[in-house]
Amino acid sequence: MSRPLNILFVSSEVEPFAKTGGLADVSSALPKAIKECGHEVRIMMPRYRFISERKFKLHDIIRLKDIPVPVGNQSELANVKSSFISNLKDKVQVYFIDNAKYFGRDGIYQSPVGKKDYQDNDERFIFFCRGVLETLKRLGWQPDIIHCNDWQTALIPAYVKTLYASDPFFKSIKTVFTIHNMAYQGSFPPESFKKSNLPKELFTPEHAEAYGKFNFLKTALAFADAITTVSRKYAEEICTSPDLGAGLDGFLATRRKDLHGILNGIDYQQWNPLTDEHIYRKYDTKSIEAKVDNKKALTQRFGLEYHEHVPLIGAISRLVDQKGFDLVLEAMDDLMKLNVQFVLLGSGDAKVEKKFEAFQKKYADRLGLFFGFDEPLAHLIEAGSDMFLMPSRYEPCGLNQMYSMRYGTVPIVRATGGLDDTVEDYAGNGKGTGFKFEKYDAKELVKAVQRAVKVYQQPDEWKKLMKNGMACDFSWVHSARQYGSLYKELLK
Ligand code: ADP
Ligand code: GLC
Repeated sequence: MSRPLNILFVSSEVEPFAKTGGLADVSSALPKAIKECGHEVRIMMPRYRFISERKFKLHDIIRLKDIPVPVGNQSELANVKSSFISNLKDKVQVYFIDNAKYFGRDGIYQSPVGKKDYQDNDERFIFFCRGVLETLKRLGWQPDIIHCNDWQTALIPAYVKTLYASDPFFKSIKTVFTIHNMAYQGSFPPESFKKSNLPKELFTPEHAEAYGKFNFLKTALAFADAITTVSRKYAEEICTSPDLGAGLDGFLATRRKDLHGILNGIDYQQWNPLTDEHIYRKYDTKSIEAKVDNKKALTQRFGLEYHEHVPLIGAISRLVDQKGFDLVLEAMDDLMKLNVQFVLLGSGDAKVEKKFEAFQKKYADRLGLFFGFDEPLAHLIEAGSDMFLMPSRYEPCGLNQMYSMRYGTVPIVRATGGLDDTVEDYAGNGKGTGFKFEKYDAKELVKAVQRAVKVYQQPDEWKKLMKNGMACDFSWVHSARQYGSLYKELLK
C-alpha cells in the first residue's frame, strides 16, 4: 500500500456532538471510513456550549490553551478540548475549538428561541477557520490534506494560500472543499471582509466577492485545490442551473474540471435494522415480517389506528424550502383520497407546521405529526413506515432515502440530485427500488404515490421492492476510496 496520509477533516457539525442535518452524519461517518482505508484522520469542530463535557469525556489539552486567533483588529483566545468518535475497529480524534464568546450558546447557527441567525455568524466562523490553522500549528501534527465542509469552513483554503502561504508548516498542505448545499453560502455585508484579515485585493468577483457581498462559499470555490459535492447529478446541476447554482453556477463552471461528485454513503453501524436499539423490533431481509411490529409501534406512537393494508408513509425532514413540503401541503387532500396514513417528523419553519396542524384536524385518524428534533423517533419512522417521502425541490445527496432502503421502506422521491442517483424507479416485474417523479409539481407527486400504492396492493411484488432496497450497498467504503484517490491525486 502507498503511504498513509494525514487528513484533517473540518466541519461545523459532527454526530453525535452537534447536528442540524446530514452534514453531521457525513462528518462522523466519512472520517471513520477514511481511517478504515488506512489513513490517519482527525476532526476539528467548534465546541458549542451544549456539547457536554461529562457525557463526551472532553478533556483539555494544556499546551493548546489560550491560543491567540486574530479576528479583525482583535485577538480572540481559543482553547482546545479533545474527545473521540469510534467504530468497531478505530478511534478518530476530535478537537473542539472553544471560545465562550462565540460558541457558548444554545444553538449552532441560530438561537433556538425565535430561530434567528446569530448576528455575528461571520465573526464566529472567521474565528473558527483561523482557529483551526493556529491550533494545527501548535499541535505540531501536519496534515497532507485539509478537508473542509460547507461555508462555515470555507475561508480555510484561502488562508492556506495567502496569509499562511510562506509558512513552511503549511506550504505543502492541499485543501479539499466539499459542498453539501449550494444554497447556504455564508454571505455577509462587505464590511465583514475586514474581520477576516484576508488581503484586501481578494475582495473582487474573482475571489471573495459575490454580488457586492463577502461570500464565504465563493472564497472556497476560488481557492480550494479540489472541490467535491455529494452526488454526481448535483455536481452537474450546480454548474448548469442558475436556480440550483444559487448565483454561483457560472463561477463554479470555471472550475468544472476540479469539481467531483462523490456520493455519500450511510453509516451501517448507526442505521442497521438488525441492531438498531431505537426500534421496536429488529429485523433483516430474512426476518422481514417483523417489520410490521414496528409499523404497529409507530402508528401507536402517533396516536393513529393500525391498519394492515393501509400503507403508512413516513417523512423526516428539516422543514425548509429545499425539502418540498409545500408540494405535500398542496397535495394533501388528494393524497388522503388514496387511503394512506402519513407521519411526519419535522423541524424548522413554524408557518409550515401550522399548515400541517390544520390538516391534522381534518384528517386526525390518518395524519401524525411531531415537530422537533428526535433521533430515536427518526429510526422508528424508518423501520415502521411502508413508504418514505422525499419530494425535494433540490437534494445534494439526501441520506434518508438510503436509510429507508436499508430498512425495507420504499422511497418515493423527486428525481433530483442524489435522490435521482440512488433510487431506481419501479419498472414492473419486481424491478426497481422506489418511485420517482420529475417535475416539481403537486400532481406529479400524487401520481407517484398513486403508483406506489398500486404496487403495495400486490404484496409479492412489493416485497421484491423492499428486498431490492435492502440489498443495495450504500456503505461508506466506496466513497472513502474515491476521496482517498482524490487526495493522492492532489499530492502528486
Ligand atoms: P439535510 O442534511 O439536507 O437535512 P439529509 O437527508 O442529508 O438532509 O440528512 C438529514 C439528517 O437529519 C438525517 O439523518 C435525518 O434523519 C435527520 N433529521 C432531519 N430532521 C430531523 C428531525 N426532525 N429529527 C431527527 N432527525 C432529523
Ligand atoms: C446537505 C444536503 C443533503 C446532504 C447532506 C450531507 O445538508 O441538503 O442533501 O445529504 O448535506 O451531505
